[in-house]
Amino acid sequence: MKKIVEVRNLTTEFDRKRILNKVSMDVLENEVLVILGESGCGKTTLLKHIIGLHSPTSGSVKIFNQEIIGMDEVEFEKILKKVGVLFQNGALLNSLTIRENVAIPLRQHTNLSESLIQRLVRTKLHLVELDEAIDMFPSQLSGGMCKRAALARAIALDPVMLFCDEPTAGLDPVTSSAIDDLIKKLNNQLNMTVMVITHELASIHRIADRVVFLDKGEVLFGGRFEESKKSRIPQISNFFEKGNF
Ligand SMILES: Nc1ncnc2c1ncn2[C@@H]1O[C@H](COP(=O)(O)OP(=O)(O)OP(=O)(O)O)[C@@H](O)[C@H]1O
Ligand SMILES: [Mg+2]
Repeated sequence: MKKIVEVRNLTTEFDRKRILNKVSMDVLENEVLVILGESGCGKTTLLKHIIGLHSPTSGSVKIFNQEIIGMDEVEFEKILKKVGVLFQNGALLNSLTIRENVAIPLRQHTNLSESLIQRLVRTKLHLVELDEAIDMFPSQLSGGMCKRAALARAIALDPVMLFCDEPTAGLDPVTSSAIDDLIKKLNNQLNMTVMVITHELASIHRIADRVVFLDKGEVLFGGRFEESKKSRIPQISNFFEKGNF
């Protein structure tokens, strides 16, 4: 199976505190990989290293077979074009309409005509079932709608690889399940490879092919979701018993 992301011995420290310790993990082509672990264990930090927002103390990160640590900006831009990110806080710009928010990556990374940009924005908003909200501002949308709008923006450039940091956190079960269905649809129908960070057991059941459990910056388990349920590692079996961390 082809590796889309390959992390090896990634170690990072903030203020001399070790946050990730020799993390090695892969994201395989066409899978949904879920990153699990209690609050503060380093999940978002791992994501930020994979998309080049942080540089590690040591270790290697490859995306599409290219080492990104120390890569020059022009090369890295090319990689970023093939990657979509839904950040933990959604990060829509409040002063822009949903239409303009979704258009941001298209304006930033392409030279497409205005009419094509508008068509792509409408297509993406249709995919996340937000056609009606196109001219609304983020403050006029519910939490779930904001997540869907942020997802539309994350997939604006038809990324090969999509990263989602807590896409369902703080949403009610029905809305969460709709977001999970959307992630599955992107994976199944559009062949996107997806890495999702989540706390929620129900989501993991719905979307995960494989899981990586992080604990205090280290990988406790990486493998098939079905296998993880049989694990005797206390932190993991506790998680499945309690349904949360
Ligand atoms: N830029 C930073 N500077 C200093 N410390 C940081 C920075 N970013 C994260 N940390 C620390 O790194 C640790 C891991 O944070 P991270 O955001 O990766 O956790 P997380 O697993 O995503 O948690 P949550 O589930 O709450 O989102 C925390 O102790 C946090 O305080
Ligand atoms: Mg986080």
